Amino acid sequence: MPSQENAASFAVRPQSEGHLKAVDALLDKAFGPGRFAKASYRLREGVAPVDSLSFVAEYTGAPKEQLAGSIRYWPVQTGPNADGATTDALLLGPLAVAPDLQGKGVGLALMEKSLDAAQAQGHRLVLLVGDLPYYQRAGFSQVPSGQVTLPQPYNPERLLWRALAPGAEEGVAGAMHRPE
Ligand SMILES: CC(C)(COP(=O)(O)OP(=O)(O)OC[C@H]1O[C@@H](n2cnc3c(N)ncnc32)[C@H](O)[C@@H]1OP(=O)(O)O)[C@@H](O)C(=O)NCCC(=O)NCCS
Repeated sequence: MPSQENAASFAVRPQSEGHLKAVDALLDKAFGPGRFAKASYRLREGVAPVDSLSFVAEYTGAPKEQLAGSIRYWPVQTGPNADGATTDALLLGPLAVAPDLQGKGVGLALMEKSLDAAQAQGHRLVLLVGDLPYYQRAGFSQVPSGQVTLPQPYNPERLLWRALAPGAEEGVAGAMHRPE
């Protein structure tokens, strides 16, 4: 997959083995040690991320090259809905940008690249827990309250989704859970 050079001196690239240590350090810095207690982490436990949708942003400018950001996705399912149907979806996150490189478009570039890739790979629906004012810039909107639920306490106003195929959110309801 080609990398995407950006005017702000960072490049979005597929994540490789060699990035993992720096990604972990970045997530610790961005979210702190409490990150594993978040509602969305329960859905990731024991499940591998979608490798083909893990991207990093690398800052290519002076004084040194550094990891600028990271985005990953996990497979999830929602349901059953009233008709007994479950839906495969992606859980976006964690998304993190190095504190000294925030506000330069890194987060949005990581989302744009990875959501394009997800769509190209045939994924139809993406959910996340996050701030609507930020994620609506990438096309996310609030899931109607209570329509989809999480296994841990969460703020329903922060449960967001974006369809990658027309009508992909129609009929989606029930508990979000790890894939069966
Ligand atoms: C949230 C985060 C990923 C944004 O990445 P970023 O590269 O700094 O964001 P971008 O440069 O793409 O976008 C910056 C714009 O988004 C806005 N923005 C950033 N975080 C926001 C938030 N939580 N709510 C609303 N707006 C937000 C900025 O004010 C800025 O607005 P402007 O363009 O009008 O100046 C980054 O700040 C981060 O890693 N934060 C700590 C971890 C975190 O909270 N991750 C998200 C989990 S829900």
